[in-house]
Amino acid sequence: MKKVLVTGSVGQIGSELTVALRKKLGEGNVVASDIRMPTDTVLRDSGPFEILDCLDTNHITRVMQIHECDTIFHLAAILSAIGESKPALSWQVNMNGLYNFLEAARQYKCALFFPSSIGAFGPSTPPDNTPQDTIQRPDTIYGVTKVAGELLCDYYHKRFGLDTRGVRFPGLISYETEPGGGTTDYAVDIYRKALKYKKYKCYLRKDTAIDMMYMPDAVRSMIMLMEADPNKLIHRNAFNICAMSFTPDEIAAEIKKHIPEFEITYEVDPVRQAIADSWPNSMDDTSAQQEWGWEATYDLATMTVDMLEQLKIKLATPDSQKRV
Ligand code: NAD
Ligand code: SER
Repeated sequence: MKKVLVTGSVGQIGSELTVALRKKLGEGNVVASDIRMPTDTVLRDSGPFEILDCLDTNHITRVMQIHECDTIFHLAAILSAIGESKPALSWQVNMNGLYNFLEAARQYKCALFFPSSIGAFGPSTPPDNTPQDTIQRPDTIYGVTKVAGELLCDYYHKRFGLDTRGVRFPGLISYETEPGGGTTDYAVDIYRKALKYKKYKCYLRKDTAIDMMYMPDAVRSMIMLMEADPNKLIHRNAFNICAMSFTPDEIAAEIKKHIPEFEITYEVDPVRQAIADSWPNSMDDTSAQQEWGWEATYDLATMTVDMLEQLKIKLATPDSQKRV
């Protein structure tokens, strides 16, 4: 991995992965792209940026020819909650966008990282200690595109020898960029509202357990997997990875340890609740541990300390100097 293209780089993951990759590979060696410009000056000014729609094949070809990358992190997508309100767009962006970049990777001999999700599982999947290889019958358009994406990446590896790799991310929690319309967004919003208003109204039931991970671990996992010895990878795509599993009640209790006045109330949104109920409580990530040495470093307690510290600084910074 010497020169990299990141799609969807203005989003929650891309905005942090791009900066981490630029530190590692050199600023000129990481081409950020998205359909929108970053407002964040760090992301915008620290290296090349292309406005690139993952559905525009002519433009993808031009970008691949100009930049001569050897690795693509394909992050452009429509997340689960927005996907349910715009299923056709979700299918187009998540499937055709992935297909276009798999084809580009094949033509220009690149490795490709594809992030799948806990959303690739469904109501008939074993919810506790969810195995690496198990029933996948998701009932959201997001989940359908994630399972199909996992299979398509496996197919390109088997059929064309393409170096495709990927993980199934849990819900991700971060402070740099707000999340982009997923079901797990509450676990980010709760920290911001706790600091600003000392209260938060949650759209999920208080006992809804979901797998979650802090962004520094997520970024590290992507780089680790793309640098892993290919001979040791049995699964390649769609590795379960996990760090912690908690309910809204449990994260609220952890925040209260630092902000004793904090109060959580509940007003359940049936659409997002149904999605969350269909996802695992916690995944088994033994394959990722064994095949490329995966291990998370943050749990709920250590993440909460860092989130509150970082957000305090961010919320006190004038808008003009904020990353987003
Ligand atoms: P996000 O919504 O924050 O960012 C996605 C980015 O894609 C946005 O900046 C958006 O402008 C861009 N985009 C949308 N349509 C596009 C198009 N047609 N062409 C180019 N760019 C387009 O999402 P994220 O949280 O950063 O997620 C990135 C990837 O990781 C997605 O595949 C998502 O499914 C996956 N993932 C995320 C999480 C999470 O909790 N954040 C969990 C599991 C998997
Ligand atoms: N955080 C993502 C979502 O809720 C999971 O893939 O859509």
